[in-house]
Amino acid sequence: MGKVWLGSMKDNHDTAPPSSQPDAPLSQEKWLESASQDQQRSFKDRWVKPLTKNIPKSWKRRLRYWAGYPAYFWKLVSNSVYDFRRFNKWSSADGKQSLREHYRAWIIADYHKIEKALAFSNPRTGFGKVVLLRLMEHTDYYIEQFSVDTSVLCAADVLLAYQDFHETRQAQPALPGLVEKAMAWKQASKTPDKDDGRTGGVIACTRESIHARGKIDLQAFFSSRHSVRQYAPDPIDAGLVDQAVRMAQRTPSVCNRQAPKVYVYLDPEERKQVIRCQKGNAGFGDQATGVLVVTADTRAYFSVGERYQAWIDGGMFAMSLVYALHSLGIGSCCLNWSVEKAADRELRRVTGIPASECVIMMLSIGHLPESFVVAQSHRKPLDSVRIQGRGTPSK
Ligand SMILES: Cc1cc2nc3c(=O)[nH]c(=O)nc-3n(C[C@H](O)[C@H](O)[C@H](O)COP(=O)(O)O)c2cc1C
Repeated sequence: MGKVWLGSMKDNHDTAPPSSQPDAPLSQEKWLESASQDQQRSFKDRWVKPLTKNIPKSWKRRLRYWAGYPAYFWKLVSNSVYDFRRFNKWSSADGKQSLREHYRAWIIADYHKIEKALAFSNPRTGFGKVVLLRLMEHTDYYIEQFSVDTSVLCAADVLLAYQDFHETRQAQPALPGLVEKAMAWKQASKTPDKDDGRTGGVIACTRESIHARGKIDLQAFFSSRHSVRQYAPDPIDAGLVDQAVRMAQRTPSVCNRQAPKVYVYLDPEERKQVIRCQKGNAGFGDQATGVLVVTADTRAYFSVGERYQAWIDGGMFAMSLVYALHSLGIGSCCLNWSVEKAADRELRRVTGIPASECVIMMLSIGHLPESFVVAQSHRKPLDSVRIQGRGTPSK
């Protein structure tokens, strides 16, 4: 299909001005009069139209397109450079690891590689030598350079689980001395018990146990969630937001590195300042009794292939957060952060969100009013979304 010459499009998430301040209605004559005055005043009508009136419409569209192209191109390049610089500066994809977060990302990714393999139906004994060596090197360095945290504890428990797996199979692990190493890490994290409450390794499950806890009427749950753009004035309890965030923390993330974060604004003055930075909430944002900003930490990523991972991990986390809030009876509306660098800088200035984090989106939140309306937001037909593989038999 040929290119459609649309010219520039305004950000399609900008919402209409609030209906609470309607313009005074104009009579038809007044409206025509003011419209014609506007037209008379227009530079385009005075100068551009007479000069271009003999040019065919399709040419005009092309001319408009090409006239706007340099500005568009520059905007795209400079905004891409803005994103590139963040990833280049803060991720460890270039091979330089200097920050605590860089080492933590490697430790989590590596211990998770081991526990992931232990969750296969038939793991090969003696697997993972390279990963274990790297995990030990990084964790020892981490303990030496930075304070101990749960990533060290999890790494220790994964080593113990790996050792247990080999013991039950009466097989040799890939490396000797794993239990000693794990115990040293546990000592460092002041949790010297070998078997108490493991934080790494595998969890035994049965179909029954998973079904018993997971079989809920998700269809009703999903279809009862709507983007809510009307809120009750009652303040939101911070504990309720914490509960939702804890639930959202169950969201999968690449190698379980858990880059997403949530900034919570419940204070009226603060949330007003934050939501003012977003352009898609006109008409309802001022009613929200809370504003959340979801970000993802670029320091958790260590390869060029992961240059867009922040948006994937962050987007999935945001979705879980929306559903978690819904389950707690709190209404929310996702607010896009599809912005250019100036707006992004302004939000960081207002909130102090560090340059190492990508801003994913905002959420306006609030208790539900007694009765209200939501947009229908009709969904596309299934066939336009679910594309069958070629091997799928036709019905
Ligand atoms: C990333 C993202 C950004 C969004 N931004 C806005 C926004 O700025 N303003 C708004 O009113 N709605 C926004 N929405 C809400 C969508 O319009 C809404 O999710 C969609 O129409 C489906 O409706 P539903 O959420 O009620 O099912 C956004 C949704 C997403 C996922």
